[in-house]
Amino acid sequence: MVERRVTIVEVGPRDGLQNEPGFVPTALKLDLINRLAHAGLRRIEATAFVSPKWVPQMADHAEVMAGVTRQSAIAYSALVPNEKGAAAAITAGADALAVFTAASETFSRRNTNCSISEGITRFRPVMALAEKAGLPVRGYISCALDCPYEGTIAPEAVADVAARLFDLGCAEIAVSDTIGTGTPERTTRAFEATARHVPMAALAGHFHDTKNGALANVEAALALGVRVFDGAVGGLGGCPYAEGAPGNLATEKLVAWLEKAGWETNLNGAEIAKTAMWIRHRLKV
Ligand code: HMG
Ligand code: MG
Repeated sequence: MVERRVTIVEVGPRDGLQNEPGFVPTALKLDLINRLAHAGLRRIEATAFVSPKWVPQMADHAEVMAGVTRQSAIAYSALVPNEKGAAAAITAGADALAVFTAASETFSRRNTNCSISEGITRFRPVMALAEKAGLPVRGYISCALDCPYEGTIAPEAVADVAARLFDLGCAEIAVSDTIGTGTPERTTRAFEATARHVPMAALAGHFHDTKNGALANVEAALALGVRVFDGAVGGLGGCPYAEGAPGNLATEKLVAWLEKAGWETNLNGAEIAKTAMWIRHRLKV
């Protein structure tokens, strides 16, 4: 029997709000996170402990991480680029960490001011801190299908970075379509190549939704056995260092589509849709 359970990782508070033109007040961020928890989300990427010079929208990371109303069943994760971010995230109470690199050298430099290899070297002390604190680490691979600077990315390039992140100790690898231009065919090739190095059970799909194409990519990945997908409530988001990067696949859209197709998400779709309307209204988007 095919396993019908799908896990959704909510990345709106981080991937969504990092791209807002203005600073979203900390209290509003906390309200959003608490509403998402109420809607049943059990993995929530709450903030990013990145340099506030690079992403000022996430400058209140410590207050956000320390301020969420904790529930033992919920893992509140933090995106971190280096040891400094990891140490601060752990001090603030993160339940999980996520590191990020890319399958494109140019994007890696634009986003983190270093090459892919340098980035992975920076993750070593992050992994050591996480291990000491007993926290799992996810590894994102940006531009896994297309890069805004280098164009189409070869599946082997994604697979190579995935293998390095997995060897480093990442428990999950999020294959990410940063600019949302991937197709189901190329999604399939990227996941197939990656699954030759990393177990399918350790892969996740992170799709931005440029032209309503993200669900087709989810479908392609589901067919291969991927069971973890990211969503951002309200379809918020983008990446400040990927010009034209659109919003993420909306969590409410993802959940409604999965449930209709007979997948179990264990989420309250109506509450998520309500939260999506509420945050879009508050942000005037
Ligand atoms: P850098 O300028 O090369 O590094 O930035 P640095 O070590 O010279 O640090 C510069 C300043 O930042 C220093 O402060 C550091 O202390 C400080 P100063 O001495 O000048 O006062 N700093 C920090 N502060 C707080 N927390 C930290 C931290 N690290 C350094 N962790 C760096 C390198 C990686 C730090 C920078 O490029 C950076 O923070 N980049 C983050 C970019 C980012 O957040 N992009 C969006 C998230 S990724 C994404 O959206 C894609 C994803 O969704 C998947 C997908 O869709 O593709 C995940
Ligand atoms: Mg993203």
